[in-house]
Amino acid sequence: MVQYLSTDVSKVTTNTLAKMRAQGERIAMLTAYDYSTATLLDMAKIDVVLVGDSAANVMAGYKTTLPITLNEMIYHASSVCRAVNRALVVVDLPFGTYQGNSKEALHSAIRIMKESGADAIKLEGGREVIESIDRILSAGIPVMGHLGLTPQSINKFGTYAVRATSKEEADQVKENARLLEEHGCFALVLEKIPAALAKEVTEDLSIPTIGIGAGPHTSGQVLVFHDMMGITQQFSPRYLRRYLNLSEEIVGAIEHYITDVKSNTFPNESEQY
Ligand code: KIV
Repeated sequence: MVQYLSTDVSKVTTNTLAKMRAQGERIAMLTAYDYSTATLLDMAKIDVVLVGDSAANVMAGYKTTLPITLNEMIYHASSVCRAVNRALVVVDLPFGTYQGNSKEALHSAIRIMKESGADAIKLEGGREVIESIDRILSAGIPVMGHLGLTPQSINKFGTYAVRATSKEEADQVKENARLLEEHGCFALVLEKIPAALAKEVTEDLSIPTIGIGAGPHTSGQVLVFHDMMGITQQFSPRYLRRYLNLSEEIVGAIEHYITDVKSNTFPNESEQY
């Protein structure tokens, strides 16, 4: 394995990410929602495990991320935290648990930290959620921001197309990114914005930016585990690199098992007592 600055770290913290950013080491983040997957990610020494509200899509089959509840996120997060020793675990605050009410936001963040054992929370938005961010940070809970395409606002956007292609919206992303850094967010996800804009934002900030569909100039990258492993099939945005085609392999293995059962070749002599 290649030696990186972070390789020898026994626990990745927000300080580790700050050092990585300062020294130019890129940050690798992937999602996990369950114990077994999180065990594999930690074995591979991923830097950050994100318990994303994308669980609503890939685990529960909802069309958007809106329906997932705080209790469901805590269930996923605590499963992940039982597996992870090394990576930084960041958990999404789900839709409706932090917008418009900073006291509720703090209550939601505290529940996640207390009941799952996570290291940090992530939430979507800029100026409109800054009061919630301030309150959560005041309790000593690290906050990761999320700008650009913010899937919890899908009903406002009406589409999952690339964001901030107009000067007005690009300026808004830049302004919000600066605001999130000034208020104390330790990192920022930039989702589905032009690569040139992500580069500008990254150069303007000193906290790390983590991109998804935001080009190569961010401080790190994130993908949804089920997408990069080819478990999900319908979802094929341009930015997605598939590292395996697991759906084909898994369906093949299941068909093999069915054949073995029906032909009574499983179990064999050595597979019985
Ligand atoms: O929920 C999620 O998986 C996310 C990533 C796509 C950044 O927010």
